[in-house]
Amino acid sequence: MSIRCAVIGLGMGRGHAKAYSEHKDCQLVAVADVDPVRRERAAKEWGCATYASADEMLATAKADVVSVATPNSLHRPLAIAALKAGAHVLCEKPIALTAAEGREMVRVAREAGKRLMINLSYRFSGPSQVLKNLVDSGVLGTIYAGRTVWLRRRGIPGLGGWFTDKKLAGGGPLIDLGVHRLDLALWLMGHPKPTWVMAGAWNHLGMRIGARQGKSYTVEDLAMAMIRFEDGSMLEVEAGWAANIKENELMETRLLGTDGGLVQKNLGEGYDFQAEVFQDRNGTQLDLSPHPPFPEAKNAYHHFVEAIRDDKPHMATGEDGVAVQELLDAIYQSAAEGRPIEMTSEKTAASAKG
Ligand SMILES: NC(=O)c1ccc[n+]([C@@H]2O[C@H](COP(=O)([O-])OP(=O)(O)OC[C@H]3O[C@@H](n4cnc5c(N)ncnc54)[C@H](O)[C@@H]3O)[C@@H](O)[C@H]2O)c1
Repeated sequence: MSIRCAVIGLGMGRGHAKAYSEHKDCQLVAVADVDPVRRERAAKEWGCATYASADEMLATAKADVVSVATPNSLHRPLAIAALKAGAHVLCEKPIALTAAEGREMVRVAREAGKRLMINLSYRFSGPSQVLKNLVDSGVLGTIYAGRTVWLRRRGIPGLGGWFTDKKLAGGGPLIDLGVHRLDLALWLMGHPKPTWVMAGAWNHLGMRIGARQGKSYTVEDLAMAMIRFEDGSMLEVEAGWAANIKENELMETRLLGTDGGLVQKNLGEGYDFQAEVFQDRNGTQLDLSPHPPFPEAKNAYHHFVEAIRDDKPHMATGEDGVAVQELLDAIYQSAAEGRPIEMTSEKTAASAKG
């Protein structure tokens, strides 16, 4: 079997293209990017067809799977175009600019009978997968509190470009980094139903850094939120591209349960991760740290194509993408209006999917 794969957008999309090109059951047939330099590099590297227009690629490449890895504002239109062209879609995070856009993508995928996966890639590391198995086997008991964080001391991506433009990105570090840490926590917690959100967002440092370089900056540089769930549990979220902290890059998710706690965090301010579980057994406190290798862990791209090949469900569905986005929308609304936001049943319809 050969699954015909194509990629739109060759920044992060290069990772998608490389993964497809390396899978024995896939063929990378085409890539599309408006940037000729990026197209040329891809053609040399993978020998696939290249297109300046995504629409033209969708019409002619006949791909079974299309990755959408463009600026956030293009996720909705390009994912919908790919679904309507008959492809399964692996869309980069965040699902879209708003939950309403994401819900439309989910609806189109259902109508087309195609899959929609969101690249919520931090679920796919070995330590995350081990933690999920442990949580699902009941090691933590009932989870009642948590904190999920991604903060940078100074790490604004593409200052002055689409990342720092609210219209093109939808927001700043919350929608860019917070989306990953929030999804990771929700996934480990089993997607409890959110009821209230209280949040704040600031851009003191981003505005100052932008002004110094003569670049426009229209998003937050830090967001903090407290989420309350129907089961009484609470989760604190922090996401920042610029904050006066010691660490250059701090990623940490902690969950506290009646029988145990866990932490998933980055090592040495880099992109390798460590997982630990803390327990109390008959009064003795135990620290458990899973040790590599983690044989079950697959990257998101291979997970998606293998789910299609084997006709099995895939993780990080469009509905999961909407569930995170509903919270991001509520966090931005709470921060803008300076008041707690109640999550109505309409807002959480996609999350309550069982
Ligand atoms: N999952 C992750 O960990 C992760 C990491 C980085 C970025 N991302 C996501 O990937 C997406 C892209 O981010 P990036 O860092 O690669 O940005 P980028 O700006 O480096 O790359 C985007 C690419 O899209 C191309 N593009 C723009 N408009 C296009 C169009 N109409 N048709 C075809 N190509 C077009 C641009 O020329 C560019 O090459 C974003 O949604 C971002 O949030 C995800």
